[in-house]
Amino acid sequence: MTLPDGYSDVPAGKIAAVVTHLEMLARPSPRPAPALPEMAVRRVLKPDVVWYRDLYTRIGAEDWLWFSRLETSRPALQAIIGDPKMEIFALTLDDRDEGLLELDFRTADNCEIAFFGVTKSLIGRGAGRLLMNAAIDRAWSQPIRRFWVHTCTLDHPEALAFYIRSGFRPYRRQIEIADDPRLTGTLPETAASHVPIIR
Ligand SMILES: CC(C)(COP(=O)(O)OP(=O)(O)OC[C@H]1O[C@@H](n2cnc3c(N)ncnc32)[C@H](O)[C@@H]1OP(=O)(O)O)[C@@H](O)C(=O)NCCC(=O)NCCS
Repeated sequence: MTLPDGYSDVPAGKIAAVVTHLEMLARPSPRPAPALPEMAVRRVLKPDVVWYRDLYTRIGAEDWLWFSRLETSRPALQAIIGDPKMEIFALTLDDRDEGLLELDFRTADNCEIAFFGVTKSLIGRGAGRLLMNAAIDRAWSQPIRRFWVHTCTLDHPEALAFYIRSGFRPYRRQIEIADDPRLTGTLPETAASHVPIIR
């Protein structure tokens, strides 16, 4: 179903976001990251749900209302992140995990960035570029035809431009509506105060 032109009501208790899908069909030109000797990117083999949820929450819960992985049951999430076609990477700062990259190779010929982000204190310091370069290297080292991602208006406001600079081309727009995760108890009511709760 497509939405009609004009304003569409979103029920009280829900959040809404505009989602942009982006893709690249060939390896892009390189964009060097600044020298960051204190940071590195490591593949996390056999990721544990508690470790994963902690990093996911530290990156996405307070400001960006990331909630989907917190509402997935523990066995289901363990099955997803433990799938051999899912690849999880951590960006480390002085050996602490402060960034998350999740690559999904489960669809043939494709790679999706399922989650991508760094903790608040690292935003704007080059860590995002370092992590994206790792993502591009890993994705295009595999026999894929398409590398894609989606981002929404609840994410960091620079994320969309960052992805476009990285070589992704926007090709699809959607509206996503969901129960407000601050009203379901998944996230604290204090999260993302720039997105007011409407009861
Ligand atoms: C989206 C996100 C990853 C973008 O990362 P960022 O930290 O803003 O980006 P960076 O600082 O790494 O890079 C931005 C640019 O500044 C440059 N830069 C940053 N610090 C620099 C430095 N010290 N010297 C030189 N260049 C620097 C980078 O090289 C990069 O340049 P380019 O994009 O022209 O190649 C980040 O904002 C984030 O994690 N947000 C929270 C989670 C989120 O919303 N994720 C997206 C979900 S889809």
